[in-house]
Amino acid sequence: MLESPNASLHVDHAASSPLTARRAGALKGRARVPGDKSISHRALIFGALTVGETRISGLLEGEDVINTANAMRALGARVERTGEGAWRVFGVGVGGFRAPDGVLDFGNSGTGCRLVMGAVGGCPISATFDGDASLRRRPMQRILEPLARIGARAADGSRLPITLAGARDPIPILYRTPVPSAQIKSAVLLAGLAAPGETTVIESEASRDHTERLLKHFGAEVRLEAEGAQGRKITVRGEVELAPAPVVVPADPSSAAFPMVAALIVPGSEVILTDVMTNPLRTGLILTLREMGAEIETLDLRSAGGEEVADLRVRASNLRGVEVPAARAPSMIDEYPVLAVAASFAQGTTVMRGLKELRVKESDRLSAVADGLKANGVEVDIQGDDLIVHGKGLVRGGGGVATHMDHRIAMAFLVMGLSSEKPVRVDDAAIIATSFPGFPSLMRALGADLS
Ligand code: S3P
Repeated sequence: MLESPNASLHVDHAASSPLTARRAGALKGRARVPGDKSISHRALIFGALTVGETRISGLLEGEDVINTANAMRALGARVERTGEGAWRVFGVGVGGFRAPDGVLDFGNSGTGCRLVMGAVGGCPISATFDGDASLRRRPMQRILEPLARIGARAADGSRLPITLAGARDPIPILYRTPVPSAQIKSAVLLAGLAAPGETTVIESEASRDHTERLLKHFGAEVRLEAEGAQGRKITVRGEVELAPAPVVVPADPSSAAFPMVAALIVPGSEVILTDVMTNPLRTGLILTLREMGAEIETLDLRSAGGEEVADLRVRASNLRGVEVPAARAPSMIDEYPVLAVAASFAQGTTVMRGLKELRVKESDRLSAVADGLKANGVEVDIQGDDLIVHGKGLVRGGGGVATHMDHRIAMAFLVMGLSSEKPVRVDDAAIIATSFPGFPSLMRALGADLS
């Protein structure tokens, strides 16, 4: 067995490491970005809720996911790293978590924290949840409110650190999510696994469905029904015993988004991104970029580990502004920072509607994106929940960008600097390791100038 990255990865990013992107030649080559973050968290958590051994391959070994692995250990599961991206989880069964000795530290990760709150919410134990300065600012009431209906109690308000007392006798509920959020949906379904009878979540617009897919994969009874034009009703039967099953984690489309947009905006580029998950609830960015005129070719569409995956050939393209409807937001919620960069290099105006949720991500992404664009000479407006970027086909650059402890802000603006007239400097590239360890070296291997 290899050494497990055991230490808590609540990395104090106080020692920030700036990074500058400069225009260089065309980007060329093939790359596989790391494993999908959403599936990686879930593979560890659901594995810990099975009885027996779950083998995971292609796990994202970013700080966020390592913190979830450590939380599973603290709650009683055995979690081992056996090779690069290869992990084994020996689960304790639904409702089988033990009270952890210390605080569960989720670092920068809303997904890890909120999903584990759900899993703990259905167990008769108490646990204290904490995270870094960014996570401490993010709303947790959206999770605590449905968990209270199930019977869990939190004493300390709605921001981390929070001590959650899970339900002794969890109650199955029917819950309508107030915003389309896979994290809220997943927390409720995870708590519902321990409740007698059926727990149902209704969402007005479908959010990513990895929880549903993986629960089925581990043998749970999950029923899916349509709800209105865009929504879904998801029902899980509780008091189940989950059976271990191998999980193969495909490459993360939200990470692939960065080299993808880089290849589109750097003249002469041609890049193939391999193994990218193309789950339709995650591909809003690809759809939008194609509408903008992007040449993105799907090669070898196949099925792997219960998800659709493909290799994507991306060629530099002349982009034009488009209108992105609010209803598309759940399928590309993490991709707006890099879409805004693509829109800056497009000809014409891009209007991105319905972005309220961007205010409560790792940073206030609406403001962080607008500030970064302005600092680099791009004309941009925020009108209500809409972001409007006036593309001129080229970007001046030369600005410094504040990342606000947000990995996607850092990566989006580094991508911008690869094609802007003057370099773009981000104040902290260390935060990128939460989701995309190796981002600078992967980009350099394609020909990017990052230093
Ligand atoms: C995620 C859901 C999304 C997304 C996050 C990952 C998940 O958050 O932004 O990066 O894995 O469930 P919300 O559910 O809050 O929209």
